[in-house]
Amino acid sequence: MKVFIIALAVFFSTGSIFFAATPVWAIHQGIPCYDCHKLLSESRDQFDGSAQASQLANTRVCLTCHGADQDQSGLNPPYVLNKTAPLPAGGSFSPTLFLDNLGHNILSPGENLGFTPPGGDTLPDFGCLSCHDAHDNGNYRNLKREIHGRSTIVQAVGDPDGRRNLYISGMDQFCNACHQQTDPESGAQARAGLPHHPVGVTIYGADNADFRNWMEKPRKLCLVEHPYGNVDDPYNAKVFCLSCHYAHASSFPNALRWDPQSNRGCLECHDSEQE
Ligand code: HEC
Ligand code: HEC
Ligand code: HEC
Ligand code: HEC
Ligand code: HEC
Ligand code: HEC
Repeated sequence: MKVFIIALAVFFSTGSIFFAATPVWAIHQGIPCYDCHKLLSESRDQFDGSAQASQLANTRVCLTCHGADQDQSGLNPPYVLNKTAPLPAGGSFSPTLFLDNLGHNILSPGENLGFTPPGGDTLPDFGCLSCHDAHDNGNYRNLKREIHGRSTIVQAVGDPDGRRNLYISGMDQFCNACHQQTDPESGAQARAGLPHHPVGVTIYGADNADFRNWMEKPRKLCLVEHPYGNVDDPYNAKVFCLSCHYAHASSFPNALRWDPQSNRGCLECHDSEQE
């Protein structure tokens, strides 16, 4: 187990970013080992020893603090089962407790997909620790640094409230580590019958996108990636997986950011005549 006590602090100045190693508060460093490990052994005792059961046991431990209903830690963690708490950036898993097709199901596998990511290989199990590590690993939001042998390092600056983050790079690669065939570069998407929207393309200068229309939208539904870390630079803003999807789940099919019955999200980057 590696515990990193050094985290990256990022400072902004006139559009460029500097990384400086500063001993700031790293994720979960303030929580005594015993608090989690006592819960972990209690939770594991309730299940048989299979891999699937141990993921479920882990997920339950995470939700003792990260579920708004259960949290009694007094530590003010971000809630991923949010009840009425403000929605965090990743979205809430709460809707998936009632319907299967709204994003990642973490407490019981969805009936159709089970542990098979659309466009990817079936996993042995699935839970919080399929995407996150429990102990600080230095990656953005403690996301796993490698999945299926692919690097999943994400550069981003997390808002302490967990809502308005600055995305720089790596999120597409993170998602594609499991959803291999949504990767436009894999060349596999046509074969797999999973045609998907392009990612990693700037809105500015794109033949099929409407930069001016996007610029003029005052409050945007869709997020973009800023590869140079500068939120005030629209020219390099790129479309990425989280432009349209929440990372966890949402109230709409496929964890979308808007109701796909309408084209609301699409019309931020495309004008209505193109639709
Ligand atoms: C936020 C909750 C949390 C905290 C705090 C925490 N751990 Fe863990 N730890 C876990 C979870 C969950 C696992 C299981 C990881 C897995 O199965 O991949 C784990 C796994 C481990 C393991 C590997 C053995 C196993 O059961 O899989 C060791 C060793 C460990 N932790 C030691 C520590 C120590 C030492 C500390 C304090 C410095 C600590 N942990 C703090 C949640 C936590
Ligand atoms: C004892 C309560 C507790 C448990 C159990 C717990 N967490 Fe946390 N978690 C927190 C708190 C408090 C924060 C916010 C402060 C911090 O980052 O340490 C946090 C922050 C996080 C963050 C955001 C990190 C960031 O960049 O701000 C992630 C991701 C996370 N936890 C995942 C998990 C996962 C996965 C598990 C289960 C293995 C888990 N937590 C178990 C209390 C907990
Ligand atoms: C560790 C592997 C893994 C990673 C990483 C991952 N997913 Fe998934 N994803 C899955 C699995 C497994 C399923 C099917 C099970 C489910 O829906 O719960 C799934 C299902 C989905 C679905 C369909 C949901 C539904 O309800 O039909 C969407 C959309 C999706 N993922 C988007 C994403 C996005 C966007 C990212 C990046 C933020 C991402 N995934 C990262 C494993 C992963
Ligand atoms: C499919 C991969 C995936 C799974 C499964 C997953 N997470 Fe996340 N999580 C992410 C990503 C990606 C982000 C960053 C979202 C962003 O910044 O928009 C994130 C962000 C977070 C945050 C920071 C707050 C926020 O919403 O941005 C917390 C806390 C967290 N996750 C906890 C959990 C817990 C607890 C579980 C299990 C109940 C879990 N996650 C399952 C991918 C996942
Ligand atoms: C421009 C918006 C947009 C972007 C960007 C986008 N998606 Fe999607 N995604 C959608 C829409 C809309 C659907 C539902 C309709 C469909 O299947 O095409 C969807 C569906 C999915 C599904 C479920 C497909 C199925 O067959 O069940 C997965 C998995 C998925 N997206 C993953 C990703 C990943 C990973 C990325 C980044 C590489 C990404 N998406 C980028 C809009 C987007
Ligand atoms: C964040 C901005 C953004 C959003 C939101 C968005 N698009 Fe796009 N779209 C782009 C960019 C950038 C391109 C790339 C254009 C190019 O390469 O010329 C593109 C290309 C396309 C293309 C051409 C496909 C290709 O291979 O070049 C279609 C069709 C399309 N988008 C449909 C949609 C639909 C449908 C939605 C809503 C589900 C959507 N877009 C949402 C930015 C966006």
